[in-house]
Order: sequence, then structure tokens, then C-alpha cells
Amino acid sequence: MSEALVRGWIDSGLSPESITMTNRSDKVRLEQLRDELGVQIVDTEDVNAYDVVVLAMQPDGVLPYVRSQTWKSPLLVSVAAHIEPAELEAASGLPAVCAMPNTPVAFRDGMTGLWFGPETDESVRTTAIALFERVGRTAVTDAKTMSAFMAAAGCSPAFFYEIVGSMTPVLTEAGFDEATARQIVAQAMKGSAELLLHESRQTEELIADVAAPGGPTDRGVGVLRARDLSGVMSSALRESAKEDHEPVDTSIERV
Ligand SMILES: NC(=O)c1ccc[n+]([C@@H]2O[C@H](COP(=O)([O-])OP(=O)(O)OC[C@H]3O[C@@H](n4cnc5c(N)ncnc54)[C@H](OP(=O)(O)O)[C@@H]3O)[C@@H](O)[C@H]2O)c1
Repeated sequence: MSEALVRGWIDSGLSPESITMTNRSDKVRLEQLRDELGVQIVDTEDVNAYDVVVLAMQPDGVLPYVRSQTWKSPLLVSVAAHIEPAELEAASGLPAVCAMPNTPVAFRDGMTGLWFGPETDESVRTTAIALFERVGRTAVTDAKTMSAFMAAAGCSPAFFYEIVGSMTPVLTEAGFDEATARQIVAQAMKGSAELLLHESRQTEELIADVAAPGGPTDRGVGVLRARDLSGVMSSALRESAKEDHEPVDTSIERV
């Protein structure tokens, strides 16, 4: 995730020299990133030497790390799942933001949820929003909405790959190679997503725009509805959004 963010931020115009990365064990990878991206790297960081410190280790490492440092000035941002900003604020004594980006941030097409700690003020919020809007769109989240947000933004890439993967065989059977088939479906979906982002009308109306009654799109949509794609997708998202989950029953008959 840190690599995806840094790639996106550099592409957005942030100078690589203004970004410093570190890790604890894989120094070879860290040096590769310095050579490839032009970022600075350090072995032992002074967290107060930076305007913004982004923590991107696994969630169980975040609070121990925050407690191990003396925090004076930076804007503290964690991208770790299941950590709350108030916990970061209690451990650091600074205003903190929990950000939940997804991997398309690498291409500046991310969707990041921002959960502001109770100690944040307008200036901290504006800075955090600006930082993540460099690499996509943002939505303000909180304790109540974060799970649904994480499910929608974090799981959408996998859901999308599943959908694209299920459509490409129709194109390869028709004679396209795999890469072209993937490009056709993914680009068509990307364009549709772009149109959707500029629309306020209900999806039902947008479908009616492109699906003449009895025409090919309408017949295809009919199959999706007969097989309850809507029920399948909302069940998948509800499952991913569950906080305390039982093992999933995957024995559901594939349609
Ligand atoms: N992957 C996603 O799609 C995604 C989406 C949203 C949020 N997140 C969050 O992003 C975080 C990272 O996820 P990931 O998939 O990128 O995991 P990852 O591949 O395991 O990366 C974690 C990185 O943190 C480094 N690290 C661990 N402890 C450190 C410390 N004390 N100081 C400095 N660096 C440290 C690790 O390097 P060393 O082992 O070499 O130290 C490693 O490079 C997680 O908290 C996750 O919840 C991930």
C-alpha cells in the first residue's frame, strides 16, 4: 500500500526527494524503491523531521510503533485497517487521521476513506483531504460507516476482477487474445464508471438509456436480473462489511 501511494503521489507532482520511505527488514526492496522512484530512504527515522508521517505497517504494529516514538509536530496518518484515530491520538498526543485507501491510488484513481480524530481541526482535515485527493477521490468516514466503506472501496477491485474474468472468455472464444479481451472489457467498464461519476440520475434510468427494449443490452440485463446479480453483489458486499464474521458458506450454487 505504501508503494501504491508513493507512486501515485509522485505521479501527482510531489517531488520524490520530498518523500522518505523506511521499513524494518527488507532493505534490498527499500533500496530498489529509492533507485526506481528517486525517494529518500532512512534506516532510523526522526518522525518529527517530516510534515506528514504515514504509517503503513500491518495493523498490529501501528500502536506499538506510535507509542515507541515521541511525537511533536507531524500530521499523523495511518492507513492500517481496524485502527481508530482516537487510539492514535491517545498514543501520540497529536491530531491523527485514519485513511483507508485502495490500490488504484497508484494510478491516481483511488478511493480513500478519511476518518478524522476528535483532536483534528479544519487545517488538518484540509491537508489530509488534499493529500489523498492527489491520488483519487475521498469520502469522510467514521466509526459507523468505515466497515461499509472498506468493503466497497477495498473489495471492489477483487469484485471487479471477478466480473471481468467472467466476461473475457466470451471474447477469447470469439477470437481475441486474452490481453485484448481483458482490455476491451476493462476499458468499457472504466468508461462506464467515468460516466457514472458525472451522473446524478438513478442507475435504473442510465440502464434504460443504453438498453432499448428487446435489444441486446436489454436481453443481457434480463439474464443478470433473472439470475439475481443484484442480490449476489449486495450479499457479497454485506459479507465483506461484516465486522464479526462466521466462516462464509461458499456452498451457494453458482448460477
Ligand atoms: N493492501 C491493501 O490493499 C490495503 C488497503 C488499505 C489499507 N491497507 C493497510 O495498509 C497496511 C499495509 O498493508 P500492505 O498490504 O502494504 O502490507 P505489507 O505488504 O505487509 O507492508 C507493510 C510494510 O510495512 C513495513 N513495516 C512493518 N513494520 C514497520 C515499522 N515498524 N516501521 C517501518 N516499516 C515497517 C514492512 O516492511 P518490513 O517488514 O521490511 O519492515 C512492509 O514493507 C496495513 O495496515 C493494511 O491494513 C492495505
